[in-house]
Amino acid sequence: MENILSIEGLAKSFTLHNLNKQIKAINNIDLFIKEGEFIGITGKSGSGKSTILRCIYRTYLPEDGAIWYNSTRFGPINLATATEREMVYLRKHEIGYVSQFLNVMPRTSARELVKQSIIEMGHDEEVAEIETVKMLEHFELDRELWDSYPATFSGGEKLRLNIARAMVKRPRLLLLDEPTASLDDASKQRVKMLIEQLMNEGTTMLGIFHDLEFMKDLCDREYNIQEGKFLTSTKF
Ligand SMILES: Nc1ncnc2c1ncn2[C@@H]1O[C@H](COP(=O)(O)OP(=O)(O)OP(=O)(O)O)[C@@H](O)[C@H]1O
Ligand SMILES: [Mg+2]
Repeated sequence: MENILSIEGLAKSFTLHNLNKQIKAINNIDLFIKEGEFIGITGKSGSGKSTILRCIYRTYLPEDGAIWYNSTRFGPINLATATEREMVYLRKHEIGYVSQFLNVMPRTSARELVKQSIIEMGHDEEVAEIETVKMLEHFELDRELWDSYPATFSGGEKLRLNIARAMVKRPRLLLLDEPTASLDDASKQRVKMLIEQLMNEGTTMLGIFHDLEFMKDLCDREYNIQEGKFLTSTKF
Protein backbone atom coordinates (compact mmCIF):
# COMPACT_ATOMS: atom_id res chain seq x y z
CA MET A 1 0.00 0.00 0.00
CA GLU A 2 1.12 3.52 -0.71
CA ASN A 3 2.24 6.00 1.95
CA ILE A 4 -0.34 8.70 2.59
CA LEU A 5 2.28 10.61 4.61
CA SER A 6 6.10 10.55 4.51
CA ILE A 7 8.05 12.84 6.78
CA GLU A 8 11.76 13.25 6.19
CA GLY A 9 14.19 15.15 8.41
CA LEU A 10 11.58 17.33 10.06
CA ALA A 11 12.96 19.94 12.46
CA LYS A 12 11.53 22.86 14.40
CA SER A 13 13.16 25.26 16.85
CA PHE A 14 11.74 28.05 18.92
CA THR A 15 13.41 31.23 20.03
CA LEU A 16 12.79 32.15 23.62
CA HIS A 17 13.26 35.89 23.32
CA ASN A 18 13.19 36.63 27.02
CA LEU A 19 16.04 34.17 27.58
CA ASN A 20 17.73 34.92 24.26
CA LYS A 21 17.86 31.19 23.68
CA GLN A 22 16.93 28.74 20.92
CA ILE A 23 15.40 25.41 21.76
CA LYS A 24 15.11 22.54 19.32
CA ALA A 25 11.65 21.11 19.84
CA ILE A 26 12.11 18.36 17.24
CA ASN A 27 15.07 17.33 15.14
CA ASN A 28 15.53 14.96 12.22
CA ILE A 29 12.15 13.28 12.52
CA ASP A 30 11.33 10.60 9.94
CA LEU A 31 7.90 9.06 9.90
CA PHE A 32 5.71 7.32 7.38
CA ILE A 33 2.11 6.18 7.40
CA LYS A 34 0.50 3.87 4.92
CA GLU A 35 -3.04 4.49 3.82
CA GLY A 36 -5.49 3.10 6.39
CA GLU A 37 -2.94 2.72 9.19
CA PHE A 38 -3.41 3.89 12.75
CA ILE A 39 -0.11 5.11 14.19
CA GLY A 40 0.56 6.15 17.77
CA ILE A 41 3.16 8.61 19.06
CA THR A 42 4.21 8.34 22.68
CA GLY A 43 6.79 10.17 24.79
CA LYS A 44 7.27 12.34 27.83
CA SER A 45 5.77 15.79 28.28
CA GLY A 46 7.77 18.36 26.32
CA SER A 47 9.42 15.79 24.05
CA GLY A 48 7.96 17.32 20.88
CA LYS A 49 4.87 15.22 20.10
CA SER A 50 2.41 18.07 19.56
CA THR A 51 5.01 19.98 17.54
CA ILE A 52 5.02 17.17 14.96
CA LEU A 53 1.23 17.27 14.55
CA ARG A 54 1.23 21.07 14.41
CA CYS A 55 3.84 20.98 11.64
CA ILE A 56 1.69 18.54 9.65
CA TYR A 57 -1.43 20.68 10.10
CA ARG A 58 0.83 23.68 9.53
CA THR A 59 -0.14 25.58 12.64
CA TYR A 60 3.67 25.66 12.91
CA LEU A 61 5.83 26.34 9.89
CA PRO A 62 8.49 23.62 9.80
CA GLU A 63 12.08 24.83 9.90
CA ASP A 64 13.62 21.98 7.97
CA GLY A 65 12.56 18.76 6.28
CA ALA A 66 9.68 17.63 4.11
CA ILE A 67 6.16 16.42 4.85
CA TRP A 68 4.88 14.61 1.77
CA TYR A 69 1.14 14.12 1.83
CA ASN A 70 -0.61 12.25 -0.93
CA SER A 71 -3.63 14.46 -1.55
CA THR A 72 -6.75 13.49 -3.48
CA ARG A 73 -7.01 17.00 -4.83
CA PHE A 74 -3.36 17.96 -5.40
CA GLY A 75 -1.51 14.64 -5.63
CA PRO A 76 1.78 14.48 -3.69
CA ILE A 77 2.18 17.81 -1.89
CA ASN A 78 4.83 18.96 0.57
CA LEU A 79 2.97 20.42 3.55
CA ALA A 80 6.16 22.15 4.70
CA THR A 81 6.04 24.41 1.65
CA ALA A 82 2.39 24.29 0.50
CA THR A 83 0.68 27.65 0.11
CA GLU A 84 -1.72 28.89 2.76
CA ARG A 85 -4.53 28.52 0.23
CA GLU A 86 -3.70 24.87 -0.34
CA MET A 87 -3.54 24.31 3.42
CA VAL A 88 -6.96 25.91 3.91
CA TYR A 89 -8.40 23.56 1.29
CA LEU A 90 -6.73 20.50 2.85
CA ARG A 91 -7.91 21.43 6.37
CA LYS A 92 -11.45 21.77 5.08
CA HIS A 93 -11.59 18.63 2.99
CA GLU A 94 -8.85 16.12 3.72
CA ILE A 95 -6.97 16.58 6.99
CA GLY A 96 -8.68 16.73 10.38
CA TYR A 97 -7.14 17.71 13.69
CA VAL A 98 -8.24 17.35 17.27
CA SER A 99 -6.07 19.63 19.34
CA GLN A 100 -4.86 19.00 22.86
CA PHE A 101 -6.01 22.42 23.94
CA LEU A 102 -9.42 23.62 23.11
CA ASN A 103 -9.97 26.92 21.48
CA VAL A 104 -13.63 27.29 20.70
CA MET A 105 -15.15 29.92 18.50
CA PRO A 106 -17.13 32.51 20.41
CA ARG A 107 -20.88 32.87 19.96
CA THR A 108 -21.40 29.75 17.87
CA SER A 109 -23.47 26.97 19.39
CA ALA A 110 -22.21 23.41 19.68
CA ARG A 111 -24.77 22.29 17.11
CA GLU A 112 -23.73 25.01 14.65
CA LEU A 113 -20.04 24.15 15.03
CA VAL A 114 -20.57 20.50 14.13
CA LYS A 115 -22.95 21.42 11.32
CA GLN A 116 -20.50 23.90 9.78
CA SER A 117 -17.87 21.21 9.78
CA ILE A 118 -20.10 18.98 7.65
CA ILE A 119 -21.27 21.76 5.33
CA GLU A 120 -17.61 22.65 4.65
CA MET A 121 -17.27 19.21 3.11
CA GLY A 122 -19.99 20.09 0.61
CA HIS A 123 -23.00 18.33 2.14
CA ASP A 124 -26.37 20.07 2.23
CA GLU A 125 -28.19 21.40 5.32
CA GLU A 126 -30.44 18.40 5.69
CA VAL A 127 -27.64 15.83 5.73
CA ALA A 128 -25.61 18.09 8.01
CA GLU A 129 -28.45 18.34 10.53
CA ILE A 130 -28.97 14.56 10.63
CA GLU A 131 -25.25 13.81 10.97
CA THR A 132 -24.86 16.49 13.66
CA VAL A 133 -27.58 14.97 15.80
CA LYS A 134 -26.07 11.49 15.36
CA MET A 135 -22.63 12.66 16.41
CA LEU A 136 -23.76 14.73 19.40
CA GLU A 137 -25.86 11.79 20.55
CA HIS A 138 -22.97 9.40 20.13
CA PHE A 139 -20.81 11.50 22.44
CA GLU A 140 -23.68 11.88 24.88
CA LEU A 141 -23.37 15.62 24.96
CA ASP A 142 -26.21 16.79 27.19
CA ARG A 143 -29.07 17.98 24.98
CA GLU A 144 -29.31 21.20 26.94
CA LEU A 145 -25.82 22.06 25.71
CA TRP A 146 -26.48 21.56 22.01
CA ASP A 147 -27.67 25.11 21.46
CA SER A 148 -25.41 26.84 23.94
CA TYR A 149 -21.94 28.30 23.49
CA PRO A 150 -19.02 25.98 24.20
CA ALA A 151 -17.05 28.70 26.01
CA THR A 152 -18.76 27.67 29.24
CA PHE A 153 -18.45 23.89 28.70
CA SER A 154 -16.35 21.75 31.01
CA GLY A 155 -12.99 20.46 29.73
CA GLY A 156 -14.43 17.03 28.92
CA GLU A 157 -17.48 18.50 27.18
CA LYS A 158 -15.28 20.76 25.03
CA LEU A 159 -13.10 17.80 24.16
CA ARG A 160 -16.08 15.65 23.14
CA LEU A 161 -17.38 18.50 20.98
CA ASN A 162 -13.96 18.95 19.39
CA ILE A 163 -13.71 15.26 18.56
CA ALA A 164 -17.26 15.24 17.19
CA ARG A 165 -16.39 18.19 14.93
CA ALA A 166 -13.31 16.52 13.51
CA MET A 167 -14.75 13.04 13.15
CA VAL A 168 -18.00 14.04 11.51
CA LYS A 169 -15.96 15.10 8.46
CA ARG A 170 -14.56 11.61 8.01
CA PRO A 171 -11.26 13.14 6.86
CA ARG A 172 -8.72 11.05 4.91
CA LEU A 173 -6.07 11.80 7.51
CA LEU A 174 -6.99 12.53 11.09
CA LEU A 175 -4.48 13.95 13.58
CA LEU A 176 -5.37 13.32 17.21
CA ASP A 177 -3.52 15.06 20.04
CA GLU A 178 -4.37 13.17 23.23
CA PRO A 179 -8.04 12.86 22.35
CA THR A 180 -8.88 10.92 25.49
CA ALA A 181 -6.78 12.79 28.03
CA SER A 182 -9.49 14.37 30.17
CA LEU A 183 -12.28 11.91 29.54
CA ASP A 184 -13.87 9.36 31.84
CA ASP A 185 -13.78 5.69 30.88
CA ALA A 186 -17.20 5.65 29.23
CA SER A 187 -16.30 8.63 27.01
CA LYS A 188 -12.90 7.11 26.20
CA GLN A 189 -14.70 3.99 25.06
CA ARG A 190 -16.89 6.10 22.76
CA VAL A 191 -13.85 7.75 21.19
CA LYS A 192 -12.35 4.32 20.68
CA MET A 193 -15.53 3.05 19.02
CA LEU A 194 -15.49 5.98 16.61
CA ILE A 195 -11.80 5.49 15.84
CA GLU A 196 -12.61 1.88 15.01
CA GLN A 197 -15.50 2.94 12.82
CA LEU A 198 -13.37 5.51 10.97
CA MET A 199 -10.67 2.89 10.47
CA ASN A 200 -13.22 0.60 8.86
CA GLU A 201 -14.20 3.44 6.55
CA GLY A 202 -10.56 3.87 5.55
CA THR A 203 -9.47 6.96 7.52
CA THR A 204 -5.76 7.07 8.27
CA MET A 205 -4.92 8.25 11.78
CA LEU A 206 -1.90 9.62 13.59
CA GLY A 207 -2.52 9.99 17.29
CA ILE A 208 -0.63 11.09 20.38
CA PHE A 209 -1.64 8.98 23.32
CA HIS A 210 -0.58 9.37 26.88
CA ASP A 211 -2.01 5.99 27.58
CA LEU A 212 -1.39 3.88 24.49
CA GLU A 213 -2.35 0.77 26.45
CA PHE A 214 -5.96 1.77 25.85
CA MET A 215 -5.47 1.94 22.07
CA LYS A 216 -2.95 -0.85 21.63
CA ASP A 217 -5.38 -3.29 20.06
CA LEU A 218 -6.21 -0.74 17.34
CA CYS A 219 -2.73 0.65 16.75
CA ASP A 220 -0.60 -0.70 13.88
CA ARG A 221 2.70 0.87 14.96
CA GLU A 222 4.09 3.15 17.63
CA TYR A 223 6.77 5.83 17.44
CA ASN A 224 8.40 6.73 20.73
CA ILE A 225 9.92 10.19 20.95
CA GLN A 226 12.55 11.43 23.41
CA GLU A 227 13.90 14.95 23.48
CA GLY A 228 12.73 15.70 19.97
CA LYS A 229 14.03 12.51 18.34
CA PHE A 230 12.41 9.20 17.58
CA LEU A 231 14.03 6.40 19.47
CA THR A 232 12.05 3.41 18.44
CA SER A 233 9.35 2.45 16.07
CA THR A 234 7.47 -0.56 17.33
CA LYS A 235 5.25 -2.78 15.28
CA PHE A 236 2.40 -4.49 17.07
N1 LIG B 1 5.11 27.98 20.35
C1 LIG B 1 6.17 27.60 21.09
N2 LIG B 1 7.06 28.51 21.52
C2 LIG B 1 8.13 28.13 22.27
N3 LIG B 1 8.38 26.86 22.61
C3 LIG B 1 7.52 25.92 22.20
C4 LIG B 1 6.37 26.22 21.42
N4 LIG B 1 5.71 25.08 21.16
C5 LIG B 1 6.41 24.10 21.75
N5 LIG B 1 7.50 24.59 22.37
C6 LIG B 1 8.52 23.82 23.11
O1 LIG B 1 8.90 22.69 22.34
C7 LIG B 1 9.04 21.54 23.15
C8 LIG B 1 8.10 20.44 22.66
O2 LIG B 1 6.76 20.85 22.90
P1 LIG B 1 5.50 19.96 22.52
O3 LIG B 1 4.29 20.76 22.80
O4 LIG B 1 5.69 19.44 21.15
O5 LIG B 1 5.65 18.75 23.57
P2 LIG B 1 4.69 17.51 23.84
O6 LIG B 1 5.52 16.29 23.66
O7 LIG B 1 3.46 17.63 23.03
O8 LIG B 1 4.35 17.68 25.40
P3 LIG B 1 2.97 17.36 26.21
O9 LIG B 1 2.96 15.85 26.38
O10 LIG B 1 3.18 18.05 27.50
O11 LIG B 1 1.84 17.88 25.43
C9 LIG B 1 8.78 21.98 24.56
O12 LIG B 1 10.01 22.24 25.19
C10 LIG B 1 7.98 23.25 24.42
O13 LIG B 1 8.20 24.13 25.48
MG1 LIG C 1 1.46 17.97 23.49
